[in-house]
Amino acid sequence: MRKKVIFGNWKMNHTRNEALNFVLEMNEEIKNAKNHGILIGIAPTYMSLDIVAKKKTKSLLLAAQNVNEHESGAYTGEVSIAMLKEIKNLTHVIIGHSERRQYYNETSVKCNEKMMAMEKANLIPIYCVGETLQQFENDETKEIIKEQIHQGLLNLSSDFVTKMIIAYEPVWSIGTGKNASKEIAQDVCHFIRNEIAKLYGQKVANKVIIQYGGSVKPNNVKEYLTQPDIDGALVGGASLKASSFIELISNLY
Ligand code: PGA
Repeated sequence: MRKKVIFGNWKMNHTRNEALNFVLEMNEEIKNAKNHGILIGIAPTYMSLDIVAKKKTKSLLLAAQNVNEHESGAYTGEVSIAMLKEIKNLTHVIIGHSERRQYYNETSVKCNEKMMAMEKANLIPIYCVGETLQQFENDETKEIIKEQIHQGLLNLSSDFVTKMIIAYEPVWSIGTGKNASKEIAQDVCHFIRNEIAKLYGQKVANKVIIQYGGSVKPNNVKEYLTQPDIDGALVGGASLKASSFIELISNLY
């Protein structure tokens, strides 16, 4: 049985103080969720990782929103894997979020370089894939996802892939309130699992956690998580207020 895993992606929101207050407000619910077999994580900005790491309950998973693929050097404004490894209990990194693909020209090749480096350091990717509205309307979703999966996962070991999280996030549904229907989300998540099976075998594919992301809210989260190939959610807007994130989580019990 695959675990249910929900991650909140804060994007460029919350100061250190706000992050601290959020964590203190959430700690109790995180323990409740764990007792219900659901793992919860958050991805604050780099600036707040240390303070969240210090004050969070043990069960709350911690992710960075990005990392650079190089070990160190002249890459102004970037953060390395070794720097993230100094943050206690940081286990995950979001890779290839559509905002990074769109605004910072990150390609699946670049994502692959990052994940190759992460494999050596034992950091787990939350690898985001998804099509734009135009691609969706042109019926190109599966072609796009296929490229993102095959190129993104190139040369990663099956042990590493088994531990990964893949987040299917149709770009047209992020922050827009326009959800992909549960049928569409299930269909694409199933397709992703099949592509992984082609690359790594069914046994590995059966273990990979696949999330849906894009306008996931307290009132629709359950629809997604009851689909056979959807094991969790990557949540943006609804993870920003502790009250809304708590409501979203408790609606799954
Ligand atoms: P949203 O963002 O929940 O605000 O649509 C999701 C994401 O970008 O991961």
